[in-house]
Amino acid sequence: MANLLVTGAAGFIGVNFVYYWLREHPEDRVVGLDALTYAGNLQSLAEAQQDPRFRFVHGDIRDQALVERLLREEAIDTLVHFAAESHVDRSISGPDAFIDTNINGTHSLLKAARSVWLDGDGRPHRFHHVSTDEVYGSLEADDPPFTESTPYAPNSPYSASKAASDHLVRAYHHTYGLQVTTSNCSNNYGPYQFPEKLIPLVIINILHGRPLPIYGDGLNVRDWLYVDDHACGIDLILHKGRVGETYNIGGHNEWTNIDIVRLICGLMDERFAAEPDLARRFPDAPQARGGAAESLITYVKDRPGHDRRYAIDATKTGAELGYRPQETFESGIRKTVQWYLDNEGWWRAVMDGSYKDWIDQQYQERLANSG
Ligand code: NAD
Ligand code: TYD
Repeated sequence: MANLLVTGAAGFIGVNFVYYWLREHPEDRVVGLDALTYAGNLQSLAEAQQDPRFRFVHGDIRDQALVERLLREEAIDTLVHFAAESHVDRSISGPDAFIDTNINGTHSLLKAARSVWLDGDGRPHRFHHVSTDEVYGSLEADDPPFTESTPYAPNSPYSASKAASDHLVRAYHHTYGLQVTTSNCSNNYGPYQFPEKLIPLVIINILHGRPLPIYGDGLNVRDWLYVDDHACGIDLILHKGRVGETYNIGGHNEWTNIDIVRLICGLMDERFAAEPDLARRFPDAPQARGGAAESLITYVKDRPGHDRRYAIDATKTGAELGYRPQETFESGIRKTVQWYLDNEGWWRAVMDGSYKDWIDQQYQERLANSG
């Protein structure tokens, strides 16, 4: 039986991880800590909050005293660290929050863990740090995928802040003996993802009949992984991974942005053809007027410093831990499209307020530069 502290539990991957863990590990308890920034949504954890094995705490990872109290009071032995500022475009327009949360916040957590676990009762523990493939930089079309020994070469304020946090986690292991593991994962998709990221943004813009902004030539490549396969990889690392190691998690699933957008357009056209009620619910969608989603595709000015290609080599995680993604892209993307169609209340709620203002401003700026 384990007692987990999950930071960033109300964000996209954190929420999916909490549900995965409660489902797969009925003996364990989970405490979710989240500051509920624009990206955190307590509503997403409504079902978990019915479960006596789960407790939500509204708080900041930079509050070291709070984290120390939770580690002691809840007898936490496993900390899984998701909390972060995570959107590359926001890191370009406002990098400060990324330094504060991703670097200083991670350091604050490390200090709390060291104080309670190493200077305190010396109990067996694990600090698992969740990172990204973006720390490795950008690949050319013919380069081999990133391995765990690819040198770090982050290009955006987001990836640079994640790289810094990865180094701090490593240093706390080597210097103080904190029992750490780190995973570097490719782009995730699935339920509960905020509609500022490519896949949910495209689905929801189609429903509103809004342009689908493709940055640059649309030929940038990402390796997409269904979010439960990320949770499963972390589970294997926690149970079988070697302390002090890093593990890549990926989907062997590379797509150009334009192909993925076309794929989603096709699936949405299919759904409208199969479910006549969608045209009534979403009268602004092109399909409601006999059109096709692809008509909304709009090429816009490229993201500054836009990494060309990410691809993950997860051979080590497969060979050492038996990791294999379970979801095919075909089934995962269909499930995801259906989830957004079935959960209109969720995405309408998260698109309210300041978040919506930010999105609208981004559109106006990008569409002014389209062509
Ligand atoms: P997200 O932006 O959806 O969620 C982040 C969560 O962290 C939010 O709930 C937010 O409220 C919370 N948070 C932010 N600052 C906080 C603070 N100071 N204290 C406490 N909570 C705070 O992000 P995500 O997509 O779920 O990503 C989770 C983690 O996984 C991040 O560390 C990210 O770098 C990493 N990652 C993401 C992807 C991806 O494709 N989304 C891929 C690889 C790695
Ligand atoms: P994103 O979901 O922001 O993830 P990341 O930048 O972390 O990979 O973007 C995925 C890809 O899609 C990336 O190459 C940028 C591109 N993109 C667009 O072309 N248009 C958009 O509106 C967004 C949000 C992203």
